[in-house]
Formats: sequence, structure tokens, C-alpha cells
Amino acid sequence: MRRKLVVGNWKMHGSIAANRTLLEKVVAGVYTCYHADFAVCVPYPYIAQTQILLTGSNVCWGAQNLCSTRDGASTGAVSPAMLTDFGCTHAIIGHSERRNLFHETDDTAAARFNAAREAGLVPIFCMGESAEERESDWTEYIVGRQLDSILRRFGPQALSNAVLAYEPLWAIGSDKAATPEQAQEVHAFIRNRIARCDAKIAQEVRILYGGSVTPANAAQLFAMPDIDGGLIGRASLSAEEFVPICLAANDRCVRSNIHRFEGHDAPIAASA
Ligand code: 13P
Repeated sequence: MRRKLVVGNWKMHGSIAANRTLLEKVVAGVYTCYHADFAVCVPYPYIAQTQILLTGSNVCWGAQNLCSTRDGASTGAVSPAMLTDFGCTHAIIGHSERRNLFHETDDTAAARFNAAREAGLVPIFCMGESAEERESDWTEYIVGRQLDSILRRFGPQALSNAVLAYEPLWAIGSDKAATPEQAQEVHAFIRNRIARCDAKIAQEVRILYGGSVTPANAAQLFAMPDIDGGLIGRASLSAEEFVPICLAANDRCVRSNIHRFEGHDAPIAASA
């Protein structure tokens, strides 16, 4: 069985003072939750502070992007090795805000995905359709194309230490989360498409849902068979909202009898 994973994506939010308060509350709120995994992906300048505050806790940390090259003349870029230097375990790749605001393509996202893996990071690879694409019945075409950018280039094996995230653009930053049934349908589509290449990896890979997850809808979303946790935006900025979402994931694992750590990424944040 797959353990649930809840990841906070802080996006471009935070300050030294606010981060401290938030992370101390998150650590205190989830420290008895051994059945699910948790991580926060913070802006680059706060990774060192996050490392100090989370080391030894059961919350991992990571970045929201990375550069696909190792080092060199890339002004403004951050390499995967720089992230692992600061104890990062995860990196969000191909978020729709990166694709839309910063013109990332399937190709550049795939290159970043591979660079993250090669550096030992768990890439959290985002996919999702816009409202217009959903209305035109293109959801499977768009999500399939994004998934294939990884499968075709690197093969299903590349997903063996990766996480996928289905984040429909119309649900991000809105008040309109996908219903559990809508999300489940796309998650099952993703898993079936991977299964055509490798049934074992399809069963093992975690697929998170992202888009307006709140304490009010988390438990229902996490109860769906192919939803393995959440990628949380706004609600990850407040411990009062993020912790109950983490508890919902942990509770779902307890109910489903998922007690053991079964691979993927480290359950305990690495020491500095
Ligand atoms: P919200 O949870 O704020 O809708 O954001 C979702 C998201 O983009 C997570 O990556």
C-alpha cells in the first residue's frame, strides 16, 4: 500500500518571523503522526532556515523548482546539488505557475525532473488542464501529454522514486476544488497509463491532488483509492489549516492499515 504524502507549496510567501512560527506549529502538530509523510517546499532563501527548524522532525523540506544543469554560467539559477547541500529531499517540478508565468515547457520540465532524480531528490511532477481544456474534454489529452513527456524520454522506471501531482488549473487558488470523484477519475487515468508501461511502478507511484485542498475537503479526497495525498498551496501557510490536512492523511493511513514505511522517500527529515 502507498503511504499518503502531504506537501505544502508555499509559493512566493514567507518571512523569517512567519516561517518560524508556522514551522514550529507544524512540527508540534504532526510529531505523533507516523503513518503518513509530510514535506514543505519553501522559497529558496528560506531553505537554510527551514533545515534548521525541521531537522530531526518528521517533516521533510524541499524547493519549488531547480535548474536542470549541474553548475556553470546560469545567473539566477539554483542547481539540484545546492538543494541537497541544504538537506532538501523534494523538488516541485513543472508547476502550472512555472509553465504559465515562466514559460516552462514539457521539455524543460522533463529535464528538471531528471536532474532532480539524478541528484537524489524526489521530484514532484505537476500536471493538469485548464478550465477551457476541461470544458473541451481535453483533460486526458493534456494530462497524458504531460505524463508522456516523462515516460517517453526516461521510461516508467524514472517514476520509481518520484511523486506525481494532478493539479487542475481551475482548482488552483480558487474556491473550487475538484470533487473527490473528478480527481479520482484523472488519478486513475494517470495510473492506468503508467500501468500500460509498467504495472508495478503504476501501483507504487504516489499521485497527489492539488487545488484548493482545505481541512474541510481533505479527508474525502484522501479516501479515494488513487489519491495518495495532497499538494497544498494557501492552506499550507497556516498551521491551523495545514496540520488538520496532515492529520487527515495520517488518519486515512491508520484506517487503511498502512502502518509500515514502504519505500519512496525518507520518513524522517535528514540531519544537517
Ligand atoms: P491552492 O491550494 O492555494 O489552491 O494551490 C494549489 C497549488 O498550486 C499547490 O501547488
